Amino acid sequence: MKITVIGTGYVGLVSGACLAEVGNNVMCLDVDAKKIAILNQGGIPIYEPGLEDMVKRNVAAGRLQFTTDIELAAQHGLIQFIAVGTPPDEDGSADLQYVVAAARNIGKYMTEYKLVVDKSTVPVGTADKVRAALQEELSNRGMDLEFSVASNPEFLKEGAAVDDFMRPDRIVVGTDDERATNLMRKLYAPFQRNHDRLVAMDVRSAELTKYAANAMLATRISFMNELANLAEKLGADIEHVRQGIGSDERIGYHFLYPGCGYGGSCFPKDVQALRRTAAEYGVPMRVIDAVETANEAQKHLLLSKIIARFGNDLSGMRFALWGLAFKPNTDDMREASSRVLMEGLWERGAYVQAFDPAAAHETQRIYGNHPQLTLVDTPEAALAGADVLTIVTEWKVFRSPDFAVIKANLKHPVIFDGRNLYEPAQMRELGFEYFAIGRK
Ligand code: NAD
Ligand code: UDX
Repeated sequence: MKITVIGTGYVGLVSGACLAEVGNNVMCLDVDAKKIAILNQGGIPIYEPGLEDMVKRNVAAGRLQFTTDIELAAQHGLIQFIAVGTPPDEDGSADLQYVVAAARNIGKYMTEYKLVVDKSTVPVGTADKVRAALQEELSNRGMDLEFSVASNPEFLKEGAAVDDFMRPDRIVVGTDDERATNLMRKLYAPFQRNHDRLVAMDVRSAELTKYAANAMLATRISFMNELANLAEKLGADIEHVRQGIGSDERIGYHFLYPGCGYGGSCFPKDVQALRRTAAEYGVPMRVIDAVETANEAQKHLLLSKIIARFGNDLSGMRFALWGLAFKPNTDDMREASSRVLMEGLWERGAYVQAFDPAAAHETQRIYGNHPQLTLVDTPEAALAGADVLTIVTEWKVFRSPDFAVIKANLKHPVIFDGRNLYEPAQMRELGFEYFAIGRK
């Protein structure tokens, strides 16, 4: 099938490549000419395991192409995926300007039936706005063309995006007409595994499903974070508690890891947007309000522990920092806990020597040449001459370090670990002062 994907960010590029991989003829459109130039030169603008090879393979096979030409893209795909950003507005609601602009562009140039699919995470009711924008553009042109609008939220995780798309747990498809349902079933047939993964529903339910999933996961994390903080005060160990509750099938083990707060491009903004929607409709969602407040506090936790240990004036201190990305296997720094920590340390006069396997570039883009930040190329280089070590992202390379090297480099044998990578008892034996999250 001929497919257009509008927006070549994490979601658009992964979707485009994976849809090409199963034999579709995919055109990816972006308004960012730099991104398209990188893609047309054989590179990829983001770090995502397995993506570059897949993109190259499908470009070489003639199934995947990249363009900034809006007219060409609008005419190419029978199915038009909208995968543009939906960042938070000033009041926390999702900013739909890019989604509506994408829809308008389709309406401006389409010449035959199109199935327009919202893949961006959008509030309930957005499909109606997309429909209205398309209709208005068609009316301006004096055209009367048929089209359908569907909702197909994306559940991929950064760092595992290709695998998540190729082997989905479920494919949520919201449609209001049979033609759209049939096209979506046909498109996703190659992604079905041992049983039907497609969950068909109406458009509004599909739109809400995405927010429900992210808010539920964020709630689990915030609950565990607060429980960990309590465990610490009680002299209990959250790691035992996690295993104890996770073994209950109704709870399960996933997403129960306490830490220094959740970040990323989705949880923070989607929790906020769901709050806004609930407020708009006058429906109290007290649980979601609390999740957001708890996460904000949790992102400050490492800094509070540092202040409790070394005082509020950290001037002249040098902090080794392992991990910058909001989670491992990505270079994404959006809402990363490392940012809250670094900014707090800088405000108090401290220096940061940071290492991340993928996010140094992105950090440099955000902070420029910050006078209190040095980005280094190895975990060991971050330790050189540092007072203490702080860990914010659980990259595999940090999991079993040479503790003798750490100790030999640090002025104080102190580690603040926001991801519970080590065993407290072992750390004590090795002579470290080890601050983790909720560990005994
Ligand atoms: P992104 O910011 O990485 O990419 C969005 C792209 O859209 C950018 O390259 C931008 O230039 C382009 N764009 C904006 N307006 C355009 C237009 N009118 N025409 C063509 N291109 C345009 O965003 P992302 O992380 O891929 O997220 C996209 C959507 O998917 C968001 O709604 C997000 O919430 C959702 N989502 C993201 C993830 C994730 O892990 N990143 C997972 C699931 C869902
Ligand atoms: C999330 C959803 O998982 C995905 O389904 C959706 O499509 C987009 O949003 P992503 O943001 O890529 O994916 O990362 P995820 O693995 O969910 O982690 C989000 C944040 O939660 C990270 O900061 C991570 O460190 C944190 N986290 C995750 C925890 O603190 N504890 C956990 O147990 C799991």
